[in-house]
Amino acid sequence: MRIGVFDSGFGGLTIFQALAARLPDYDYLYLGDNARTPYGNRSFETIYRFTREGVDFLFSRGCKLIIIACNTASAKALRAIQQNVLPTQYPGRNVLGIIRPSVEELAKQSKTRVVALWGTEGTVKSDSFALELAKSAPQIRLFQRACPMLVPLVEAGELAGGGTDFFINRYWSETHALHPGIDTLLLACTHYPLLYARIRALVPPEVNILIQGNFVAPSLADYLTRHPEIDSDLTRDGSRAFFTTDRTEGFDKLAEAFLGHSVISEKITL
Ligand code: DGL
Repeated sequence: MRIGVFDSGFGGLTIFQALAARLPDYDYLYLGDNARTPYGNRSFETIYRFTREGVDFLFSRGCKLIIIACNTASAKALRAIQQNVLPTQYPGRNVLGIIRPSVEELAKQSKTRVVALWGTEGTVKSDSFALELAKSAPQIRLFQRACPMLVPLVEAGELAGGGTDFFINRYWSETHALHPGIDTLLLACTHYPLLYARIRALVPPEVNILIQGNFVAPSLADYLTRHPEIDSDLTRDGSRAFFTTDRTEGFDKLAEAFLGHSVISEKITL
């Protein structure tokens, strides 16, 4: 059985890349719902339905464990799937998101206990990170800023240049205005690591910038150690398969930009 990685499109490849680098022997299936991306500003009901369909597909292809490598889907659909779907339809299998490890890392890294995140409208409006933080690290204050221009900039290949810098500067000054003591900024959207070089150059050096792949991968490794009943069913032939709900040519081209090596995907319908 494999590890499934689900995202609304390409962005989850940044998480997939980190998982495959940290745990290279496992077999992975990646599904990008490119036909319906972006999820960022869609309603709860829609994101839940789309994510549920993606999860059903990955389970039908033999996944034992699925990582929802999309902040918006983790924020809006994960809990409902874990509570309502897994126990009745997929007992013994699991679906994990990327919010809990993110929140744990924020609590670990911040000295001032004042942190910020950048994400999509959907992630910010769901307040899921703040709710998770309130449970596990209530001493931390979180300020959130939706950055709706950053995903389209990445998808258009605008990873540097005046337009990109303009929006990063604007989002940072609006974030800093929320609280001057922010010492840690979480990039809580799968696309933003591709803008890391410009974000790092424009956000003051004393602010620590967190990229999710760096800690989601060790967190999965830790999970597998603690859950031998899942780990023992996972096969380890180092295989990777990529599925997309849209044209494969487009997926393969952008996936290569994300991963740095060529990819041959298969188109599926959810
Ligand atoms: N994958 C999404 C996220 O991490 C960003 C792209 C989208 O809006 O679908 O929130």
